[in-house]
Amino acid sequence: MSGLLIAIDGPAASGKGTLARLLAAHFNLPHLDTGLLYRATACALLDEGLRLDDTEAAVAAARGLSLTDFDDAKLRTRGMGEAASVVAAHPQVRAALIDMQRNFAAREEGAVLDGRDIGTVICPNATVKIFVTASPETRAQRRALELAARGEDADYAAILTDVRKRDERDSGRGAAPLKAADDAVLLDTTDLDIDAAFRAALAVVESASR
Ligand code: CDP
Repeated sequence: MSGLLIAIDGPAASGKGTLARLLAAHFNLPHLDTGLLYRATACALLDEGLRLDDTEAAVAAARGLSLTDFDDAKLRTRGMGEAASVVAAHPQVRAALIDMQRNFAAREEGAVLDGRDIGTVICPNATVKIFVTASPETRAQRRALELAARGEDADYAAILTDVRKRDERDSGRGAAPLKAADDAVLLDTTDLDIDAAFRAALAVVESASR
């Protein structure tokens, strides 16, 4: 029997990363936050003083990534989320990252992956797909709290603008746009705290894997 493969997608700061982590811990599965791949690709370009639209350099940076080598504090800043969404719009960059993600998903024990195109492109055969959403205002509030906890400036209005801009760029791009797979279960976490969202996600996974 093949393992449990859980695909979680959703827009910026929807809570998909937290849910993916909690589900991975619950089922004792490895977890890949695929947003980090795009953040790390953007970061490699910026560190070299290169432009985000330098596709050739971006592809080389994407191919050179090592999954075990991410500097979380540096990658999870507000600016790096924005830069990630710029490099993520290049089809060649996405193509360079596909094998790494599919190899991770192919582990015998199963896996949890979260991102924007896991259910649609990376793992169309996942055991279960959840598309996590929340209102832009709620997401901006959560991101502001998260950034403040990391010591970063967290102006709510500016973050709300970021969130809306990123939604538009991620949903409007031609390559693997952010959208729910036809067979994904929608989970709106606007009025749910982490515990309630986790219980709802767990119920979805349990009924799909039965
Ligand atoms: O944590 P947050 O939801 O803000 O962002 P993230 O998941 O780290 O992703 C950062 C950016 O990478 C997104 O805005 C997307 O443009 C891109 N991304 C993507 O295109 N495909 C994925 N599977 C994951 C992230």
